Amino acid sequence: MPSNFEIWTEKYRPQKLSEVVNQKHVVGRLKSWVKSGSVPNMLFAGSAGLGKTTLALCLARELYGEHWKENFLELNASDERGIDIIRGRVKDFAKMKPLGADFKIIFLDESDALTPEAQQALRRTMEKFAGVCRFILSCNYSSRIIEPLQSRCAVFRFKRLDEKQVIEYLERIVSAERLKAPKEALSAIFELSEGDLRKATNLLQASAAMGRIDKETIYDVAMQAKPHDVRAMLDMALTGKFADARNKLYELLINQGLSGEDIIKEIHRQIFELDVPEKAKLGMLERTGEFEFRLNQGGSDEIQLEALLAHFLNINKQ
Ligand SMILES: Nc1ncnc2c1ncn2[C@@H]1O[C@H](COP(=O)(O)OP(=O)(O)OP(=O)(O)O)[C@@H](O)[C@H]1O
Ligand SMILES: [Mg+2]
Repeated sequence: MPSNFEIWTEKYRPQKLSEVVNQKHVVGRLKSWVKSGSVPNMLFAGSAGLGKTTLALCLARELYGEHWKENFLELNASDERGIDIIRGRVKDFAKMKPLGADFKIIFLDESDALTPEAQQALRRTMEKFAGVCRFILSCNYSSRIIEPLQSRCAVFRFKRLDEKQVIEYLERIVSAERLKAPKEALSAIFELSEGDLRKATNLLQASAAMGRIDKETIYDVAMQAKPHDVRAMLDMALTGKFADARNKLYELLINQGLSGEDIIKEIHRQIFELDVPEKAKLGMLERTGEFEFRLNQGGSDEIQLEALLAHFLNINKQ
């Protein structure tokens, strides 16, 4: 690995609130709280890679300047889900006096992994140290956070980034790294990342490390089924060419080393694009759901996917 190797998700993580992509509703409120110097407890809810941790770090930098590290504690609740983390590290940090500020911030990542008892303890800690400490709870599912905690927080729901935003973000990295990447490669990254910027950045870096940023390489590093291969397989099945469809399936499973799960996910995406009547699409969706479940239950990739293709053969005949 070259000595100047850096992980791009860290290298290009925004340092200032104004550099964050989208999440305008959160950024706007945080900026005004920085100005007034007062911050409430907060709950950041949303799926992975949307900027929850990034925004908390930016907030700490803008509030505390050079002392931000002394006044900011980041903890991951999923390592220790019990009450001990609240009684131990959270309390210890909350007790210490803030440095050059009125209050400190504790950022609790994956708070939805805390047990309900630990969440109750957190609620009490929050109240006890309300004068000197603010909490930012980050979670994927706000429904797993107990109501008394939610009601003590300003709740922010993070939005998934759209294609234009993801591509703009990636293009900035591409040009900073003096690389070249065609638009279709960046679109492929967007498709695979589903709006998760961490995943998108990692795919870009993995592809660049292979020496090329193009669609093929991106699907290879993502170990995902290429949409056109799966589309071809589906078209074969739907037009009655079962042997060809089956060969294509084996090529994907054996030569390309994809898992049944990868393939079925791409089948699911492709169904919407197919040139068949709505009714047939619905039938295919239903079957795909059923076979995905079977695969998850431990069914064999080859047998289950072949059976699914056989169903598709019949669906279009109906
Ligand atoms: N809205 C955004 N603007 C700019 N960069 C972002 C944004 N969202 C995510 N990123 C980038 O994606 C990476 C992961 O972001 P971050 O750690 O903030 O995600 P997260 O929402 O906390 O995810 P998780 O739920 O997995 O903890 C970082 O490199 C960050 O720079
Ligand atoms: Mg995070």
